[in-house]
Amino acid sequence: MNTELVVIDEKNIDDAAKASIDKAGNIIKSGGLVAFPTETVYGLGGDALNKHSSEKIYAAKGRPSDNPLIVHVSDMDALTKIVKEVPEAAKKLADAFWPGPLTMIMNKTDAVPYETTGGLDTVAIRMPNNKIALELIKASGGYIAAPSANTSGRPSPTVARYCVEDLSGKIEMIIDGGQVGIGLESTIVDLTSDEPMILRPGYITADMIKEVLGKVSIDKTIIDSTSTLKPKAPGMKYKHYAPKGELTIVQGPMEEVIKYINDKAACAKKSGKRVGVIGTDATKDKYVADIVKSLGDREDENTIAHELFKALREFDDDKVDIMFSESFDDNGIGQAIMNRLLKAAGHNVIVL
Ligand code: TXA
Ligand code: MG
Repeated sequence: MNTELVVIDEKNIDDAAKASIDKAGNIIKSGGLVAFPTETVYGLGGDALNKHSSEKIYAAKGRPSDNPLIVHVSDMDALTKIVKEVPEAAKKLADAFWPGPLTMIMNKTDAVPYETTGGLDTVAIRMPNNKIALELIKASGGYIAAPSANTSGRPSPTVARYCVEDLSGKIEMIIDGGQVGIGLESTIVDLTSDEPMILRPGYITADMIKEVLGKVSIDKTIIDSTSTLKPKAPGMKYKHYAPKGELTIVQGPMEEVIKYINDKAACAKKSGKRVGVIGTDATKDKYVADIVKSLGDREDENTIAHELFKALREFDDDKVDIMFSESFDDNGIGQAIMNRLLKAAGHNVIVL
């Protein structure tokens, strides 16, 4: 299949851009797939109400079909058709955070095929905060099922180049809308039981949700790597975000971390391995390795979040065999950063 690539500037959706979005909308309406930007990561979109589109999404990503997709909407009215009831909590959270990086789980109606929800009676819904995405949803009939636009298991794409790398030849169109703003996938909150529960941490933190609802719990499996319980979001059980090389997180006093990583890097280099290090602005000049990447200022967690998947992908581009990363605080959005980093490392952590 020939994959058409179009470039659209979110800040200037002119007539040509509108025509491209209409074309993309028609592709989705007629059962095809389009990768598009959101504020979190790029999504791989198909018609959420068409089971064949969802099947195509699983096939293009190489994703297990028991891992449900998020349905993207562009207005609140769209919910009526796809959920049995909009819980009060959902209305409050939508007021506070939509459009934005929050996905809410509710009970689905028959309009949503089980192919989209991985066999579940619940559906995950999000209204993304990106003009291209919102226009595309409207042009597509109102409901786009979209997982992150990467091959299953790889880091989510934060630039269109990585959608091209993973999906070229497998889908009809890729919309390049530049680098995304946030860089980590949305927070997922389950609203189908009395106590709202966070199933995947993201930019919208537990404290932010608590401020609106007064309460929220967190699925234990996402913070406790030794937990043997099954995560409530099926996707969280899979190995994820994995770069091609082997990644180890090193935790401890910074001087010791630097020394440990440099010793290990020297050993690995002697045996002919290509070594990469993930540090920060304050430490990047202290490492000796083939490639050293800074995720930015350690105190600026939004930048760290924004740079993480990009750094992991770039290590793949640079054919790095072994990687070491510093560890980060897990407060606020730091919880999402560490959740993704730990998964990328297969929970391979050295504590000094
Ligand atoms: O920011 C995002 O959420 C991005 C952009 C494209 O919107 N999308 C995204 O989708 O990250 P994906 O498919 O990579 O991750 C969806 C996660 C999976 O872990 C899946 O198991 C979970 O959401 N999920 C979807 N529907 C669910 C449901 N009904 N119950 C529990 N978990 C669900
Ligand atoms: Mg994903």
